[in-house]
Amino acid sequence: MNRVFIKTYGCQMNERDSEAVAAMLRARGYRIVPDEDSADVMLLNTCSVRDMAEQKAIGKASYLAQKKKRNPRFVIGILGCMAQNRGAALLDALPDVDLIVGTQKFHQVPDHLDNLRAAQAAGAVLPTRIVDIAEEAGSQNTIREHVLEDRQVTAFVSIQQGCNMDCAFCIVPKTRGDERSRPMDEIVRECEELADRGVREITLLGQIVTSYGRRDYEHTGGISPFVQLLERVNAIPGLKRIRFTSPHPRGFKDDLVAAYGRLEKLCEYVHLPMQSGSDRILKLMNRPYSRDRYRQIVDDLRRVRPDMYFSTDIIVGFPGETAEDFEQTRALFEACNYDMAYVFKYSVRSGTPAAAMADQVPDEVKEERNQVLLRLLEQNSDRRNATLLGTTQEVLVEGPDKKGVQFMGRTRGNRIVHFAAHERLIGELVPVKINRASTAVLYGELALAGVER
Ligand code: 5AD
Repeated sequence: MNRVFIKTYGCQMNERDSEAVAAMLRARGYRIVPDEDSADVMLLNTCSVRDMAEQKAIGKASYLAQKKKRNPRFVIGILGCMAQNRGAALLDALPDVDLIVGTQKFHQVPDHLDNLRAAQAAGAVLPTRIVDIAEEAGSQNTIREHVLEDRQVTAFVSIQQGCNMDCAFCIVPKTRGDERSRPMDEIVRECEELADRGVREITLLGQIVTSYGRRDYEHTGGISPFVQLLERVNAIPGLKRIRFTSPHPRGFKDDLVAAYGRLEKLCEYVHLPMQSGSDRILKLMNRPYSRDRYRQIVDDLRRVRPDMYFSTDIIVGFPGETAEDFEQTRALFEACNYDMAYVFKYSVRSGTPAAAMADQVPDEVKEERNQVLLRLLEQNSDRRNATLLGTTQEVLVEGPDKKGVQFMGRTRGNRIVHFAAHERLIGELVPVKINRASTAVLYGELALAGVER
């Protein structure tokens, strides 16, 4: 019982947590296997942000329960946000689940599996179940080990857990708990070690990264702790690029905007969740900014970096959203000219303030509004691609593309590029001339004089 497969749902934070769990399990002698069929432990690291995400994981767990009927020693674990959100109640719907581990207890997974294994070895007849969803002080510091693939170029680094913003639609304060930051020195050390191991691009992760360290560190000379952290990561010699996600618009004060002008490794790609372009809906959502303020941040950033790429999150069909409110969102969405956007149909999350609000929007209306924004996004993306054709872009070579035919990398603006290259260029910044584009991928060729491909 030591072959583990971890399936991850949801955001990059979840991916990072899964990776840390994998590293801890390996250190304990477990094998992380690349396919479900050869696993005898299956861990689902779950997402609760929308109902669909929960339903997917529940469906998967029920399917796995069949497997357990054939092999009673097969272990099913549910980790992360849905485990935290639903706790032991999950066992009512999924009686075959052995392990439920919340978002502050990922580091306990090896111990829990050891204990389940010991119980099995001792011939436990009754199912032994473990539910561990308590809060734990300092748990934000436990997501630090990495499993790096051979020649891995990019990595996520968790800098903070939790969120205190209380957006009316959002379950995350419940699933991830209070905002807690890791010590800056530890984060910097982790980034340095990753750079020593060959990582060239780091994405700093947290539920609200722009609030990083606000209770632990002073502003110095008008510079927030988050920007201080960016400065220190920017100074690590081996690193070439820095990204972060997710920020909050209210974190984009002058110091962060100016950082884009002076920190050369900070990529000109900003994910800036708008959620809605209607002041009335923003207020109902408990989002502390106006559409004008949001627009001003976009303009400020474009002033510092005219080549800035923007992405956003939008919720359509928040309770009470009228055609007029949506029109405000559509207009602001169009004006911001996003390169990328994640558009979500509002999903009722039990226990959040919005769940109890009147005027829930019918699903067809949500779908219509969703389509309007997706069409705009496609147009924007095509327009951006057209401007990239014929230009030479700086690309960080990550490795072979999915088909293993060419190599892939990303521009600083986070566009995926495929091109012919040589393996020894993995981890290098290379100029690539763009000569073709599909919506999701740019195609090009190395523009290196005298470099063999
Ligand atoms: N319904 C739909 N989308 C949601 N999000 C968060 N909560 C909900 C919800 N109840 C979206 C927000 C957030 C992203 C991660 O998920 O846009 O930024």
